[in-house]
Amino acid sequence: ALSAAERAMVRALWRKLGDNVGVYATEALERTFLAFPGTKTYFPHLDLSPGSAQVKAHGQKVADALTLAVDQLDDLPGALSFLSDLHAHKLRVDPANFQLLCHCLLVTLARHFPGDFSPTMQASLDKFLSRVTSTLASKYR
Ligand code: HEM
Repeated sequence: ALSAAERAMVRALWRKLGDNVGVYATEALERTFLAFPGTKTYFPHLDLSPGSAQVKAHGQKVADALTLAVDQLDDLPGALSFLSDLHAHKLRVDPANFQLLCHCLLVTLARHFPGDFSPTMQASLDKFLSRVTSTLASKYR
């Protein structure tokens, strides 16, 4: 689990993101699709071109899930249960892809909040995102 200090760092950054979590999640998705084109194979039904309204809408959904996770750090399995079922059983996303999106989320946040992105902030966010994705990947077997 995240330590009290790690939680405090993640929560503090999330407060700073305010209403813009969707903006950053959308940028992270765009970066993921560009840097790791294999990830695009899961979204054949969406328009993935830069500035796509569909990517923006999806970014907002991912953002809301991450904000829910920040608010429910004590019960990620419960909070993300529906999404775990979806990604494992219905979408069958190879869990390796989660790391790629997490990497791009970190890059995005580091770019927009350079002054906040101390090594301990990076480590705290990385741990938070690892917890989220291991929860999402927990129902594969
Ligand atoms: C759908 C969250 C990682 C592929 C979704 C939805 C959410 C979500 C909230 C929408 C569910 C709904 O419509 O109710 C997340 C989070 C992730 C993550 C929090 C990791 C931090 C990934 C990755 C991939 C992926 C890495 C594949 C590369 C998909 C696909 C859909 C989806 C294909 C369905 C899109 C659609 O048809 O609208 N995800 N996701 N997800 N996710 Fe993820």
